[in-house]
Amino acid sequence: MITVTSTTKGEGKSFVSYNLAASYKALGKKVILVGADLRNPQLHTRMGIERENQGLSTYLADENFNDLDALIKKGADTVEMDYLLSGAIPPNPSELLMRPRMKELLERLKERYDIVLIDSAPLLLVSDTTALLPLSDLVVYVSRAQYSDKNIFPFIKELQNRPNIPPFGMVLNGLLQDLAPVINTDTAIATAIATPINTTMAMAMVMEVMRRTNNNSKKIIAI
Ligand SMILES: Nc1ncnc2c1ncn2[C@@H]1O[C@H](COP(=O)(O)OP(=O)(O)O)[C@@H](O)[C@H]1O
Ligand SMILES: [Mg+2]
Repeated sequence: MITVTSTTKGEGKSFVSYNLAASYKALGKKVILVGADLRNPQLHTRMGIERENQGLSTYLADENFNDLDALIKKGADTVEMDYLLSGAIPPNPSELLMRPRMKELLERLKERYDIVLIDSAPLLLVSDTTALLPLSDLVVYVSRAQYSDKNIFPFIKELQNRPNIPPFGMVLNGLLQDLAPVINTDTAIATAIATPINTTMAMAMVMEVMRRTNNNSKKIIAI
C-alpha cells in the first residue's frame, strides 16, 4: 500500500497518484486508486465523471455498509486501474480515516489487489492523513517546483523521523527542464523530472528505487 501525500493543496498528489497507478497498471499489476482526500475530492475530474455521493466516506461512516463492490469503479478498459472514490464530503474526515474500519478496508483491498494507491489529503493543516501513514508500506511525498514553500522542508524531515513512519519517496513535481534520469543505488537517490512529458518515466524511477532499496532506508528521493 502506497500513500501519496504532500504539504498543501495543489502540489500534485492526485496527478502523481494517478500516474503512479497508471505506471503499475502498465506493468501488469492489479491496481486500485483510492480517493482519501475526503475534503477536496478530485479524482472524479480526472476520470471525466460527476462526483458521486457514494464512496469511501459512505463505507467509513456506515458500520453496516459492507458492499465494497458497489463502491469500486472498474477501470473502463484494460489499461485503466480500478477506483474507490471518496464520496460525499463528510463533516469529520479526520475521525473517519482514524476508524478501525479504514484499516479493515485496506486489508480487504490488499487481498484483492497487488497495489493499493492512496491519494490523500495534505498534511500541514489537517490531520486526516496522519492515521494512514503508519498503515502504509511506502509514502510518496510530493513537492512542486515554483509552488511549494521551501521553508516547509524541516517539517517533512521531522515527519519522516516520527515513529511508525514507513520509507519515504520524494517527488519534486513540475520541473520544466528535461534532464536524463539518474539512479544512484549507493545513496538511494533517484533523479527524474516529473514534467507532463515524462511523468511516467519519473514514476517508473520512483518504483525502481523503491524496489532496489530495502525497507529500512529512509533516504529514498525522486526528483
Ligand atoms: N506535473 C504537472 N504537469 C501539469 N499539470 C500538473 C502537474 N502536476 C499537477 N498538475 C495540475 O495541477 C493541478 C493541481 O494538481 P493536483 O494533483 O490536483 O494537486 P493536489 O491533489 O495535490 O491538490 C491539477 O489541475 C493538475 O492536473
Ligand atoms: Mg488532490
